[in-house]
Amino acid sequence: MTAAPSVPIRTSVESSVVEVSGVQKVFDTKRGRHEALKSIDLQIHDGEFLTILGPSGCGKTTLLRILAGFEQPTAGVVALDGEPINDVPANKRPMAMVFQSYALFPHLTVFENIAYGLRIAKTPRDEIEERVGVVMSIMDLAGLEQRLPTQLSGGQQQRVALARSVVIRPRVLLFDEPLSNLDARLREQMRSELRRIQQQLGITSVYVTHDQTEAMAMSDRIVVMSEGRIEQVGAPHEIYRRPATLFVADFIGKANVLRASALKRSSEGLSVSVLGTHLQLHDPGGLDEDFVLVLRPEDVTLTPLDSPNDRNITAKDRHIQAPGWVRRIEYLGAATQFTVELNDGTLLEAMRSHSLARDSVGDLPGEGDGVLAMVHADALLAVKPRP
Ligand SMILES: Nc1ncnc2c1ncn2[C@@H]1O[C@H](COP(=O)(O)OP(=O)(O)OP(=O)(O)O)[C@@H](O)[C@H]1O
Ligand SMILES: [Mg+2]
Repeated sequence: MTAAPSVPIRTSVESSVVEVSGVQKVFDTKRGRHEALKSIDLQIHDGEFLTILGPSGCGKTTLLRILAGFEQPTAGVVALDGEPINDVPANKRPMAMVFQSYALFPHLTVFENIAYGLRIAKTPRDEIEERVGVVMSIMDLAGLEQRLPTQLSGGQQQRVALARSVVIRPRVLLFDEPLSNLDARLREQMRSELRRIQQQLGITSVYVTHDQTEAMAMSDRIVVMSEGRIEQVGAPHEIYRRPATLFVADFIGKANVLRASALKRSSEGLSVSVLGTHLQLHDPGGLDEDFVLVLRPEDVTLTPLDSPNDRNITAKDRHIQAPGWVRRIEYLGAATQFTVELNDGTLLEAMRSHSLARDSVGDLPGEGDGVLAMVHADALLAVKPRP
């Protein structure tokens, strides 16, 4: 018998607020059946900021609308705090949706826009005053109570829309591309604002976007979707550093894709031949015979072909070194991107970040220069190819 633990053990680290099981959505259209969601299983944890990310048409809005109750799933169950809610209509679900078009009431003041949901719920007058006041101060809207929506900037309108949604204290906040009408600078400012407010209030949030930078910057976890399926769920760094599929690697950031053949698989890992070098790689598991290697541009180091320092690095050090030449250079300010053609014809993207304190542009290879591309085995990620 084991001794009783002196500290309570939490059975699960995160508790789920929403659980989506086997959700499928088929639309009947004039041109036949369209399966917008194939079979979605997803757990949304208490207090987290979860982003659904994927290209246009992959089913993000459909999934969000099913959570909100605006759309019925063809099959599967949506549960909230352990209770199935498929039959609960949208207006009875403790959720609020923030749209791309803020949909503020143009004839109501900022205060009345924010108070709207509380008035509908017949909340006492004093409580409305207090709750609206608190939300307005958190959102930096104090002083704008009597303005009309047309008298606000885009960012302020967005904050009013958010204030109106959070003031009713929903269990879950749903966002469908709420920032896509804003210009780039305001977008960036609003995304940190939104994140700050969400963290301060601790409201479980589901955020839909097709913007990978936004997803990376804001989320606790990201759900990457493609063609009605979930490709991967993970924290931003997991999605970026350990993509499960080629789709994910390609969609999030830039990826070189290298053909490789598996020589042997064992407990030591994956033994592969790539660019003429035999290497032992980390085996992420779950791979079939068929896989590809993904390599991020920032993991390719370029040195001048005649540099003596690098000559003594051999494959034993778990490096690939492949000679080639620089075909193209793009100077991006904080970094330079190189397209290198290796001697076997393989094209590689390499990225080198800059710092005035550390290096000078003169150190960089130029177009047409011979270079040695070096890659450490740990930077080669084995992933499933496209189906
Ligand atoms: N009411 C509908 N009737 C028929 N097909 C629909 C309907 N709503 C969505 N679809 C289809 O389902 C698929 C998923 O649509 P959805 O709106 O969920 O995509 P999305 O990922 O939100 O895309 P976007 O980034 O462009 O907003 C698309 O192919 C779309 O055309
Ligand atoms: Mg959409």
